[in-house]
Amino acid sequence: MAEERIVSGQRQTDEADLPIRPRSLAEYVGQQPVKERLRIFLSAAMGRQDALDHVLLYGPPGLGKTTLAQIIANELGVGIRFSSGPAIERPGDLASILSNLKAHEVLFVDEIHRLSRSVEEVLYPAMEDFALDLVLGKGPSARALRLDLPRFTLIGATTRAGMIAAPLRDRFGVVVHLDFYASEELTQIVLRTANVLHCDIDPEAAFEVARRSRGTPRIANRLLRRLRDYSEVRGDGMLTLEMVGEGLELLDVDRLGLDAVDRRLLTQMATFYGGGPVGLETLAASVGEEAGTLEDVYEPYLLQQGFLQRTPRGRVLTDKAYEHLGLEAPKETL
Ligand SMILES: Nc1ncnc2c1ncn2[C@@H]1O[C@H](COP(=O)(O)OP(=O)(O)OP(=O)(O)O)[C@@H](O)[C@H]1O
Ligand SMILES: [Mg+2]
Repeated sequence: MAEERIVSGQRQTDEADLPIRPRSLAEYVGQQPVKERLRIFLSAAMGRQDALDHVLLYGPPGLGKTTLAQIIANELGVGIRFSSGPAIERPGDLASILSNLKAHEVLFVDEIHRLSRSVEEVLYPAMEDFALDLVLGKGPSARALRLDLPRFTLIGATTRAGMIAAPLRDRFGVVVHLDFYASEELTQIVLRTANVLHCDIDPEAAFEVARRSRGTPRIANRLLRRLRDYSEVRGDGMLTLEMVGEGLELLDVDRLGLDAVDRRLLTQMATFYGGGPVGLETLAASVGEEAGTLEDVYEPYLLQQGFLQRTPRGRVLTDKAYEHLGLEAPKETL
């Protein structure tokens, strides 16, 4: 694929997205209330010539957290450093990142829920007082030293807000929850991406791709790329509604946008667990995915669409799920 670049031998999915990634708030589709709030905070910070308050972005994968962090830095006109929870192994790693930041710059920490406790301890005074507390030497001769840091903005991203320690969460002045996109919004994203990729698509075909993208821009863009391949090979390159229908069938995306794993999950619940309640770990083992993946990637959309419900005793299948699977629901489902 022309727009995919190989970086140090690895295919970086986000690198592949570079040309289609929006660069300003104006280009960032949807999430109206979020953009409105951010615009106010951004212009206030710029008016005061100060760093923006720390921002926590949370929501399911592929909804635009990394994109938004980059946009915030662009709008502020400052540099951004990218890191992630698992990459910052020791307190010293964080200390060196922090001490290299310039005034008002953005430090983006992806998967911030995976920071270790000892690294978090360094982060607290840095976030609150813009200070780095160092201990020099060991034993009785050890000395504590406080270094001043420039005022900076930490942007943390996570798919699991519930896994962030309360003291860390409380230090973010701006907390932003990204939710699934409406089909109309995703249609705009599909049309925009098609334009960047020089791909011809009918408006109703774009809506169909959008409708079947699990409310997620990353999925919409990915499906569009694969459908473009399909239409170039099987047709004349024009993506019509018919082409999209055929292509999505080939990609095993059903008429409500559920993929093979979604359907396997729902089917297993119906056939092996009588519709539940069933625990997450059990379910994960039976579909051959990790519990964390089910919880982060698959479950949120199924919950939002009302195929599943969470109860204290486990996950329960709804009537809507039985109907979609074409299975008879037991009498006492939700
Ligand atoms: N609001 C939006 N408007 C247009 N395109 C978007 C929007 N949000 C996301 N995208 C597109 O979707 C892709 C995925 O977004 P991004 O990588 O920012 O998601 P993420 O929330 O960081 O996901 P993850 O949790 O997996 O890190 C981006 O490359 C971008 O092209
Ligand atoms: Mg990301």
